[in-house]
Amino acid sequence: MMPYPINSDRNKPWNNLPLLPIDKDLYEDIQVFAQLGNAKAALGRLQGRSIAIPNQGLLINSISLQEAKASNAIENIFTTDDELYKAYSEQQHKQLEGPAKEILNYREALWLGYEYLQGDQSFDEAYFIKMYRTVSQFNDGIRPAVAQIYIKEGGSGPNAGKASYTPPRGPGILEEKLANLIDFLNDDQQYQLDPLLKMAIGHYQFEAIHPFRDGNGRTGRIFNIHYLTKKGLLDYPILFLSRYIMDNKEDYYATLSGIAQKGNWKNWLLFMLKAVEITANLTYNKINDIISAKDAILEAIVAQNNISRPESLVSTLFTEPFTRVKHLTERGLYAENTARKYLDELSVMGILEKRMIQGNSYYLNLELYRILSE
Ligand SMILES: Nc1ncnc2c1ncn2[C@@H]1O[C@H](COP(=O)(O)OP(=O)(O)OP(=O)(O)O)[C@@H](O)[C@H]1O
Ligand SMILES: [Mg+2]
Repeated sequence: MMPYPINSDRNKPWNNLPLLPIDKDLYEDIQVFAQLGNAKAALGRLQGRSIAIPNQGLLINSISLQEAKASNAIENIFTTDDELYKAYSEQQHKQLEGPAKEILNYREALWLGYEYLQGDQSFDEAYFIKMYRTVSQFNDGIRPAVAQIYIKEGGSGPNAGKASYTPPRGPGILEEKLANLIDFLNDDQQYQLDPLLKMAIGHYQFEAIHPFRDGNGRTGRIFNIHYLTKKGLLDYPILFLSRYIMDNKEDYYATLSGIAQKGNWKNWLLFMLKAVEITANLTYNKINDIISAKDAILEAIVAQNNISRPESLVSTLFTEPFTRVKHLTERGLYAENTARKYLDELSVMGILEKRMIQGNSYYLNLELYRILSE
């Protein structure tokens, strides 16, 4: 087997980052295939469950918000769920500042890219730039040839702050490597490989190229989800992959670094496949919990007898954790007085909790909030 040409000097731009595909021997391994089997089974189960969800869009809203939150936490953007959900229920996050805004940008990118890639549209440079711009809110594109960037070693160890990896730079180099990656992703005839392996290899390659001045981590994690939806492994961008990555951040960085430093693709692939398996199961459980909660609440409301259009009401309550009177009126469900009366009634029943924030009433769906927060 051809050894993978490593980058021996972490401070030197890795202009020799090999083009894809990688040699078969780097991933044809019994452990990798065993883990691939587990990941595929879990993902298949999630996909099977997700098509059975009535009114998919509603649940997906909430779950994609969680993915966004987790991915952003990687960059140490922490926020309380309260802030986030409140911001979200405002639907005007362009005027927001801070963590909640970052998260909503990410969530927006999740949907934007998902829609962009519908139909015949395949991955292209414009896709990556669109994702980058949406998460980072910058207006530029691929970083200029002269920009000096490197990835810092995290933590508090002896190497903290020093370069753990320096991505390529120079005229045309990033463009060439990105074009090769895009080709690898789109051309399944020439590059026949299990889609989960292609996703993991693609994510690494993207991070190694590091085409943008910031936001490469977030863009690459969004890409993972879009790759799965584009290739038909999932119908909707609901896999909550960043949660696992964020909970295992040390391993994420270490296994990424292991490729340039030791040519160790195996550990990286094992890491990503494990991430898919664990988070597919986690997302599966969350979906089940949300559906059960929704059914139980619907039942309670129907039993109440005096509330009209209970189905639509419950659907709205499960679109996002905080509901406002205007969410019901804007959907044309009820007049304002009725909407308020119902929400207050549900608060008395203990299904919702009414909170006053800056003079406005927000009704928190307690059970949905609990499921999403745990
Ligand atoms: N040794 C490495 N080799 C390749 N890529 C790496 C390595 N270490 C970290 N990375 C990637 O670089 C990302 C950080 O780059 P950047 O700051 O551009 O992205 P970000 O989205 O702003 O940050 P974050 O991922 O922290 O939210 C990490 O999330 C990871 O995906
Ligand atoms: Mg950054």
